[in-house]
Amino acid sequence: MAVIHRNGLLRTLTTAGAVLAAGAVVAAGLTGADALKDRQAHMKEMGKASKAIADELKTGKADPAVIKPNADKIATNSKNIPTWFPKGSGPETGLKTKALPIIWTDPEEFQTKAHNVQVAAANLDAVADTGDMAKVGPAAKELGQACHSCHEKFQAKEKDD
Ligand code: HEC
Repeated sequence: MAVIHRNGLLRTLTTAGAVLAAGAVVAAGLTGADALKDRQAHMKEMGKASKAIADELKTGKADPAVIKPNADKIATNSKNIPTWFPKGSGPETGLKTKALPIIWTDPEEFQTKAHNVQVAAANLDAVADTGDMAKVGPAAKELGQACHSCHEKFQAKEKDD
């Protein structure tokens, strides 16, 4: 199941690349600077949702009603990660970006990392459904690690502007 899904994502990327080469607009609709701005906004949204989950867990009496919508947001958003990085939406836009060129030279690993986040977010969502808050903490931690694992490899480290 997961493998089929991943192949689907890869196929989407390949199609987008082929369309781009023909000088048209990618399937997701956005290219270049627009795609860059759009993905940064979506990433920020996922960051906010992650923080909301972490903050809720810190209260020591986490409410599944707070965890769930945020896990949902991440699960939904993360499905689209592969469409947020069309070729030409990196540093060549002239805009500030931490997207490293390796995203486009090692798309397979990039897809895997995106997929891992989708799985971790769906898992957190399912665990929140059980209402067993003792399990929510570890599931949220796993999700955070999945995000970090992609950033570690594909996102430039903080540097002075
Ligand atoms: C497949 C790789 C990948 C995954 C998975 C991923 N990110 Fe990112 N993220 C990136 C890249 C690359 C950037 C830099 C984008 C840019 O600057 O153009 C980024 C940027 C960000 C930013 C900074 C946005 C900004 O411009 O201020 C936040 C916040 C963020 N990610 C949160 C998350 C969270 C939370 C998750 C997990 C739920 C996540 N990311 C999963 C690759 C990923």
